[in-house]
Amino acid sequence: MSTETKILAVVGSPRIGGNTDVLVDEVLAGAEEKGAVTEKIYLGRSTIGPCHACDACEGTGVCFQRDDMDHILQRMEDSDIWVLGTPVYWWGATAQFKLFLDRWYGPWHDNEPKKAFQNKKIALVITMGDTDASTADPTLNMFVRSFDYIGLELAATLLAPGVYGFGDAEASNEIMRNARDAGQLLACS
Ligand SMILES: Cc1cc2nc3c(=O)[nH]c(=O)nc-3n(C[C@H](O)[C@H](O)[C@H](O)COP(=O)(O)O)c2cc1C
Repeated sequence: MSTETKILAVVGSPRIGGNTDVLVDEVLAGAEEKGAVTEKIYLGRSTIGPCHACDACEGTGVCFQRDDMDHILQRMEDSDIWVLGTPVYWWGATAQFKLFLDRWYGPWHDNEPKKAFQNKKIALVITMGDTDASTADPTLNMFVRSFDYIGLELAATLLAPGVYGFGDAEASNEIMRNARDAGQLLACS
């Protein structure tokens, strides 16, 4: 049986190669240096329907919608650590990320055991144009309270303020270094 740490990254920005994507890559690069095996999914390239609150998932944990969440939830279940990235859009996560998060409602309504959520660690990557990192507070609060509710461990939080256009994150040695360090620590945690 493989003992490698498996990391799944989920990028919630629609901008491929944007700040969130670059920083998530840096976290993954740091983790790979420490022997982790990584994989990345772009929500912007995924088809994910919104939760309909129909409660069809009650008991079974299976949503009535057959879309890319089937594959993504399987990958979540198969990994040890999730690196979740989103920019701040209007003090919250992106619409793409919120669609994804709302669909956790399905596996959360599975009868025990809720396999997708067992023994997972999470690292958050949150980017924002504002130079004041407190802009991420409402977004961070949503994540912290959701993870607390589900019983997920938030192992690392990387806030990247002051990054707006393509290339801004890469131009900051400090932010890039923090991302790489976070990835190394994550793989060793
Ligand atoms: C629709 C939209 C809303 C945004 N809202 C905020 C905001 O409320 N606060 C902020 O600091 N930046 C805001 N931004 C800027 C992004 O957070 C910033 O450009 C970020 O670096 C984008 O990440 P990305 O390159 O990974 O897409 C917004 C950008 C867009 C497109």
